[in-house]
Amino acid sequence: MRLRASTPPVGERLDKADPVRDMFAEIAPKYDLLNRVLSLGVDQGWRRAATREALLLHPKRVLDVATGTADFALELKRAAPDAEVIGCDFVPQMLEIGRQKAAARGLDVQLEEGDALNLPYEDASFDVVTCAFGFRNFADYKRGLAEFHRVLRPNGRLVILEFPPPPRGAFGALFRFYFRHVLPTIGRLVSGSVGAYTYLPASVMAFPEPARLADMMLASGFRARYRLLTFGVAALHVGQKV
Ligand SMILES: C[S@@+](CC[C@H](N)C(=O)[O-])C[C@H]1O[C@@H](n2cnc3c(N)ncnc32)[C@H](O)[C@@H]1O
Repeated sequence: MRLRASTPPVGERLDKADPVRDMFAEIAPKYDLLNRVLSLGVDQGWRRAATREALLLHPKRVLDVATGTADFALELKRAAPDAEVIGCDFVPQMLEIGRQKAAARGLDVQLEEGDALNLPYEDASFDVVTCAFGFRNFADYKRGLAEFHRVLRPNGRLVILEFPPPPRGAFGALFRFYFRHVLPTIGRLVSGSVGAYTYLPASVMAFPEPARLADMMLASGFRARYRLLTFGVAALHVGQKV
């Protein structure tokens, strides 16, 4: 396997999209395994919590943006079999793995190629938009929120799951050590990618604090609230289009 020498830039950078796309294409075959190992399986619990928020008002049409290998989209479909669930991502290699998982589980989700910053969907065409661990990778957060807002129907719901900068205090210190030292080593050994699991902690450190993301949602036309999960390792933001 080719070893990536450099990591994509972090934060909001216009030159980010291509390196992010290349990185996910490279790690796609190992992405699910690494998620389970690096989060000790906790990531699936976060997606289930996000699914409960997403399905609270019994949506008919749900879009999972930056769906990757479709874990969130599949969980949404499993929990709401009557809803139409569409997942979209700009890396075909991730989507292909998602399609294999959907077929193996007998879950009918549509997985389509598309850029979150220019979504290939009509205005007001979804009841719910979700995005798990994808938003942080966007080159332009405001543009991403504007696209979520555009494709949601009035009063539609937005659910964003992300890694905020690690919490403070003793747990935060321990987590930072794990994040900076242990995670990149395991990530490199399992995925063969030098950059991807250095990018992960660096991009998390550069991401806005949860209150700041809630403010950005507000400024983009959402009512917004959030709660922290697992001592602040993850944050679940819920918005309502106004
Ligand atoms: C960390 S993975 C998360 C995948 C999935 N949502 C999950 O919960 O496991 C991030 C995904 O975001 C996608 N992504 C990043 N920027 C994107 C963009 N501008 N448009 C579409 N997908 C994007 C990547 O291709 C990758 O599949």
